[in-house]
Formats: sequence, C-alpha cells, structure tokens
Amino acid sequence: MAGAISTTGAGTAGAGSTHAVPAAAASAAPAATADRKIVAFCCRECAYAAADASANARTPLPPTVRLVLMPCTGRVSPLHLLSALAEGADGVMVAGCLLGQCHYREGNFHAVDRVAFVQRLLKSVGVAPERCRMFTMSAGEPPRFVAAVREMDRVIGGLPPLPRSEAGGAGGVAPAGAPLAGSEAQIAAGAPLAAGAPLAAAARGAA
Ligand code: FES
Repeated sequence: MAGAISTTGAGTAGAGSTHAVPAAAASAAPAATADRKIVAFCCRECAYAAADASANARTPLPPTVRLVLMPCTGRVSPLHLLSALAEGADGVMVAGCLLGQCHYREGNFHAVDRVAFVQRLLKSVGVAPERCRMFTMSAGEPPRFVAAVREMDRVIGGLPPLPRSEAGGAGGVAPAGAPLAGSEAQIAAGAPLAAGAPLAAAARGAA
C-alpha cells in the first residue's frame, strides 16, 4: 500500500499509524514558511530516488526542506532527529520505502518505532510531536514524495518557529544541565522560554 506514515498531529490517527497524504497537500502551493527549516532523512533506495526523479521533472519543492541521503531509514537514529531539531530545524521527517519493501528488510519498521519514540520524547518536553513524522513511498512515486514534503511544510508552517536557547546561540543547544525552560503551550501563552533546553534534555535521554 502506498502511503504516508504519520504519527501524530492534526488529521492523523495516532502514533505509528498509517494514512494517506491529503490530496490537497499534493497539489497545494508551498506554504509561505521560507524562514523555517525541515530536515528530511531520505532512504537512498526509494525516497531519495523519488526526490531525484521529482527534481529531474523540475517539480518545485518547498524551500524549507533540506534532504539528507541515508542508506535506509533503519539507519536514522532518534539522536539524528533530536539533534536536527536542537540545532536549528523546525521539523524533521523520515522518508523511506513502503512498509514491507525495505531493501534491508526491516529498516523502515525500525524507523516507524523510532519516530514514534521521538514523538513521545518531544511531547514529554512540551514540543509538538508532529514536528517529527514519517512517510513512505516507492522510487516510482515522485508525486508522493512531493506531497509528503508539502504536507510537512504545511504542518510546520502552522506551528510557531521552534525557539532556540540564548545559551546555545542562534540555532544552538543549551548546555547540558540547563534547566528545562517551558513548552510550546507556554509559547502560545506568551511565556518566554528556550526550547533548545528541553530538546537537549530529550537528546540526552535518547543517547
Ligand atoms: Fe528504504 Fe530501508 S532501504 S527504508
């Protein structure tokens, strides 16, 4: 089954569940969120190949997205995801082969578990768990890759920028031992905080 695996967030069915990318996301123009950063960890065999094909077809992707080539989504660790968030990304996504079609057999199943784990960690420190999501596709589905990226761009565009700790500088990470500073709920309430600190704590917990 082709589809996007998503975990939590609006319109999704819960951690580890699968659902299709909304059709609107596939055709929608990129959201006006060029100041945001999304890091996409893409498996070489399917997702990156689909990205390559979409680039050859000159299909525009949101300017927010940075691709990272991975041999398999099974190689993506929670630390990769949390470090990307702690060091400047507003969202991270893992894009791999369809379930049951991983070229290394079970890599994407491990990735599903790790994305769900990271979402739980994010939630525990008050960061919106939909900042980390997973999608699957085949190499022959460039439109599905584009739809996944645009869906992620839409979700991240609907969230406030992920603030950084002053201790870590712009895009920096608070030093180990720094107190947890708050949550996105507190951001919404206007309370000052440094999200780098809870992310750093989450990263330490995942290490
Ligand atoms: Fe693509 Fe494993 S090779 S997810």
